[in-house]
Amino acid sequence: MSENIQFKVRPGGKIHGRIRVPGDKSVSHRSIMLGAIADGTTHITGFLEGEDSLATLKAFQAMGVAIEGPDNGRVTVHGVGLKGLKAPTHPLDMGNSGTAMRLMAGILAGQDFECELVGDASLSKRPMKRVTDPLAEMGAEIETEAGGTPPLKIKRGGPLKPIDYVLPMASAQVKSCVLLAGLYAEGQTAVEEPAPTRDHTERMLRGFGYDVVSEKLDDMRTRVSLTGGQSLAASDIDVPSDISSAAFFMVAAAIAEEADLMIEHVGINPTRTGVLDILKLMGADITLENEATVGGEPVADIRIRSSKLKGIDIPPHLVPLAIDEFPVLFVAASAAEGRTVLTGAEELRVKESDRIQVMADALNALGIQATPTEDGMIIEGGQQAPQSAPILSHHDHRISMAATVAGLRAASDVIVDDCANVNTSFPTFIELINQVGMHVVAEEA
Ligand code: S3P
Repeated sequence: MSENIQFKVRPGGKIHGRIRVPGDKSVSHRSIMLGAIADGTTHITGFLEGEDSLATLKAFQAMGVAIEGPDNGRVTVHGVGLKGLKAPTHPLDMGNSGTAMRLMAGILAGQDFECELVGDASLSKRPMKRVTDPLAEMGAEIETEAGGTPPLKIKRGGPLKPIDYVLPMASAQVKSCVLLAGLYAEGQTAVEEPAPTRDHTERMLRGFGYDVVSEKLDDMRTRVSLTGGQSLAASDIDVPSDISSAAFFMVAAAIAEEADLMIEHVGINPTRTGVLDILKLMGADITLENEATVGGEPVADIRIRSSKLKGIDIPPHLVPLAIDEFPVLFVAASAAEGRTVLTGAEELRVKESDRIQVMADALNALGIQATPTEDGMIIEGGQQAPQSAPILSHHDHRISMAATVAGLRAASDVIVDDCANVNTSFPTFIELINQVGMHVVAEEA
């Protein structure tokens, strides 16, 4: 990812057609991880061939797991069992991916070899104490940089002690890390989450025949528990299309004129559909068709047509359910009539970039009045300025793509700088965004 790719966006476009976006990133990571530590062969279809999930795939190959593919979304993982991983001969490079680093830390804490996890400039600034703290409680010894940031040096791992852990923040990555470490603990490990977060790890573990108990404690809190030491039975996985990637197209269709877009086979796991609820509250015209379940995950075709959006106060309980979609939801708010207020979203400050500050700067560059707050943003929907300053992605794929969609309603061409990062989650973005009717050129700057 060394070259600087710029996106040049010509305003306007009608947004129509029928598309399929790539496989879900969260599910793709987990399919390799669980496939690798299962007994038997796992066949994956719809795997996301993005840099993030490929980093996970390569890391397991480096630990002696035979993996074929990806070939057109097909991957075959020859599982080595819970105890079959081998010490890698070099540090494992997780690239830009927080999910890869945090979930792998859980699995690696259970191994009896030392290893090191490294990442790119963005990942090297992200907080890892949130996973090293519970892993240390379980008995693992992990070194980080002074500020609790990567690299992670796992000095001593399993067998681990089980814990009962109350998550300090609503994070599926931390929940999953502790549960995966729990596979290597002697006894019952439990995690209590303060609000619902994506539950792909729990669903996939059950799909691999592992007993996982989820108990609702009240409207918000859930306790998830499992007992270490059982085995995982290989299972075939059909990865649904990523609702987080579909979100760019949903917002594009919602804010364009005369739009009518169908996005096929999108994962609509209820822990991921906050974006649908928020857009509907804003007045978007969204319908679901062909609802089905594939490999334990619900999917549907999503149809979106143009609508007149209005500003809203985003209900805080929807925040963790739409956590990755805020960059593009801010774009929807910019095109809406009236004010949109987001609160309770301080986690956005520690994503691939500080998404509150970076998106406020991007919208300001487009002439939109957007005011960052400690835990959210206030956006006055309205006209974009006749001229815009170039937008910087700050190593963040979702900023690159959200800013591109914002160009749809701009008054003049929009330049988005540093966009090679789109390959981490959505390598076919440019092709598809042009296919549906936007005018975007990717050029080396
Ligand atoms: C993810 C969980 C979320 C999300 C990330 C993927 C996962 O992170 O933002 O893109 O696959 O578990 P947090 O757990 O930090 O909220």
